[in-house]
Amino acid sequence: MTAEIISTGAFVPEKTVTNDDLSGIMDTNDEWIRTRTGIGERHIADEEFPNDEKAFVLALKACERALNNASEKAKTEKTASFKDRSDIDMIIVGTSTPDFSFPATACRLQEALGIENAAAFDISLACTGFIAALSTADAYIRAGVYKNILVVGVDVLSRLIDWSDRGTAVLFGDGAGAAVVSASDSESGVIKTVLHSAGSGAKALYSKSMYFNEDEKAGMSMDGKKVYDFAVRKTPEVIREAVESINCDDVKYYVLHQANIRIIEAVSKRLKEPMEKFPHNIGRYGNTSAASIPIMLDELEREGRLKKGDLICLAGFGAGLAYGAVLLKF
Ligand code: ACO
Repeated sequence: MTAEIISTGAFVPEKTVTNDDLSGIMDTNDEWIRTRTGIGERHIADEEFPNDEKAFVLALKACERALNNASEKAKTEKTASFKDRSDIDMIIVGTSTPDFSFPATACRLQEALGIENAAAFDISLACTGFIAALSTADAYIRAGVYKNILVVGVDVLSRLIDWSDRGTAVLFGDGAGAAVVSASDSESGVIKTVLHSAGSGAKALYSKSMYFNEDEKAGMSMDGKKVYDFAVRKTPEVIREAVESINCDDVKYYVLHQANIRIIEAVSKRLKEPMEKFPHNIGRYGNTSAASIPIMLDELEREGRLKKGDLICLAGFGAGLAYGAVLLKF
């Protein structure tokens, strides 16, 4: 029995903030941001979203899309376990920017999606949140405990941003992505998951509070160089660990957390794998933390770039410092 991703869905807020917009409010410019990060614009959940509903609404819209896509697929393809959303027996949300400390975002989604009695909880692992949630879903399905799991990555990092700190403010955007993961006896599904944490790097990237607080300046704190060096060193390592049982030539895409185009290029170089295998959309979204991998996956799926049987390696890294990878057959 394997855990197969049978559908994806994603959602980003409509409002975009361009590099030029940012250069109007802080000492930065389009050229610096593009050459250092690859980012051109990002989507921000502005006042259109009530503050206590930002993560919830973004996630809800991504989940609706993933569930509708799964239901459509179930009509035409034989998906072993999933017929409609009432089959979902667990919801796992990777997020480090929930609207509330509790209840879990997953519990609010459960009610709003009308999925009764499913287990529901959040996982907090910053930019590695979706990888951790997918790994957990894989373990539950492999163990035979649950059959259909809604796996979500959502983050609203704009709520942690100090808009006077150009070193971090230009990097992040808001968004959500989701995947329906089902027990399958086909060839498709997760092949291997790997998760690691170097807790000793916790001071390199942290937030003491859930919201940026102007008086206490208690938003995000990041040592960009340390995180960069860590990502460039550890991401190839964890990918090698995930793909050790197969030939790298057979991997169609490495879907990396979208933090910085230079990190993606460095990983491509270290793995000696061409950039064509590393799809990226950071230019349009910035770093959306736990949402970046499922947003990228959904884009590949919608553009018809994923075919049944394709080998894909997902890899995330971020605060913790945590990092992980999932090798799967689509
Ligand atoms: N615009 C213009 N200049 C800037 C900006 C800006 N937005 N930000 C910094 N600078 C200046 C600095 O002040 C510095 O000036 P100085 O030389 O006069 O001191 C100069 O540009 C160079 O700054 P560096 O910090 O050395 O720039 P670097 O090339 O290291 O790039 C960056 C910084 C983009 C943050 C990079 O280090 C990086 O991508 N790090 C990884 C971040 C990351 O991946 N985070 C992901 C995890 S997020 C999570 O888990 C929630």
